[in-house]
Amino acid sequence: MDEIIEGISAILRAVWLMVPMLIPNSAAVLFGGGTPVDFGRKMKDGTRILGDGKTWRGLIGGTLSGITLGLIQVVIMKALDAPEWTYSACVTQTVIILFLLSFGSMFGDMLGSFLKRRIKIARGAKAPGLDQYDFLIGTLILMVPLEWAWFYDNMLTTENMYLVGFIGLIVLIPIMHRAMNIIGFKMGKKDVPW
Ligand code: CTP
Ligand code: MG
Repeated sequence: MDEIIEGISAILRAVWLMVPMLIPNSAAVLFGGGTPVDFGRKMKDGTRILGDGKTWRGLIGGTLSGITLGLIQVVIMKALDAPEWTYSACVTQTVIILFLLSFGSMFGDMLGSFLKRRIKIARGAKAPGLDQYDFLIGTLILMVPLEWAWFYDNMLTTENMYLVGFIGLIVLIPIMHRAMNIIGFKMGKKDVPW
């Protein structure tokens, strides 16, 4: 019984700490529009580098939303005196991690679009797997070399069941992704519910 509670708590903690990675893509839908990140340029293959779905406003708005939310989370957990639910005792490291989670998420989303364009999947068309996990992959590409110790101590160690939390997060990602896209679609912010 205690193990189940510890496991659920570890999953909630992993989701909580990864909010700055989970939010930017949805925030980008709200803030997006205007000049595309690739400035409309095409590659030699005749297809856009990223496409009109990746804009500067989305990139910057998404990244700043994630960082802002992360800072709010830190204030909440400091007030509740729950240090294990914050990123780091050090303010500088906290900001670095929030940036890696948030920008990494948008970076992964762009990487996903880059790959979709190379295999001729049109902007907005589905790419199962890639659509759900591109932001996690982007975050890991930056996090693993730059903040490996933090990532290991908070997501991979079996201590406190943190690894169970991270695996739980990976399982929940497609469900959360689907839910957010349906909300975006219903709000009229997304053309398609995926
Ligand atoms: N968006 C944006 N800038 C970003 C990311 C997203 O403006 N950097 C906005 C765009 O309006 C985009 C919407 O959020 O259409 C949904 O994002 P996403 O599903 O990632 O883009 P798609 O339009 O599906 O394009 P792609 O096929 O390249 O994924
Ligand atoms: Mg899409």
